[in-house]
Amino acid sequence: MRRAIYPGSFDPVTNGHLDVIERARKLFDEVVVAVAHNDEKQPLFSLEQRLDLLRETAGRIENVRIAKFSGLLVEFARAQNAGAVIRGLRAVSDFEFEFQMALMNRNLNAAVETIFLMPKEEYTYLSSRIVKEIARLGGNVSSFVPGCVAKALTGKFRQ
Ligand code: PNS
Repeated sequence: MRRAIYPGSFDPVTNGHLDVIERARKLFDEVVVAVAHNDEKQPLFSLEQRLDLLRETAGRIENVRIAKFSGLLVEFARAQNAGAVIRGLRAVSDFEFEFQMALMNRNLNAAVETIFLMPKEEYTYLSSRIVKEIARLGGNVSSFVPGCVAKALTGKFRQ
């Protein structure tokens, strides 16, 4: 069984994330979308809300499983018996952080390979951070995120 982990904050999941999930699931027998629980980050959506939005949008996709994790990613990969970590790479600006993370993870566990997938060009400028900002300022995010996420964002920022 070739299993990959697709980790992230998913705060919230965007169409760009879903595009990467679709690409990854064609390459692996199973893709575990792993939502990070990190005490140091202050996400807009709680861990449970982020999981729920992923379950609603990607939970029924064949060979995709939604999970949460805390602690080191490589330890989670080991526990899940996964040989690969998937990360989306949008632009050169992503590269430095991704490069650092991939090599650090390799140092921690050489058995886990990081694989970068490029989303559709139309999603290269899309990020959860920008989507949250647009929603906070009252803009329309419906072409960037699934309907349930757009609704959840509106709910968060309604006065
Ligand atoms: O969506 P994000 O915020 O870019 O995802 C970053 C994430 C959660 C994948 C990364 O912070 C992570 O792997 N955290 C787990 C802790 C860990 O293993 N840190 C060492 C990696 S260098």
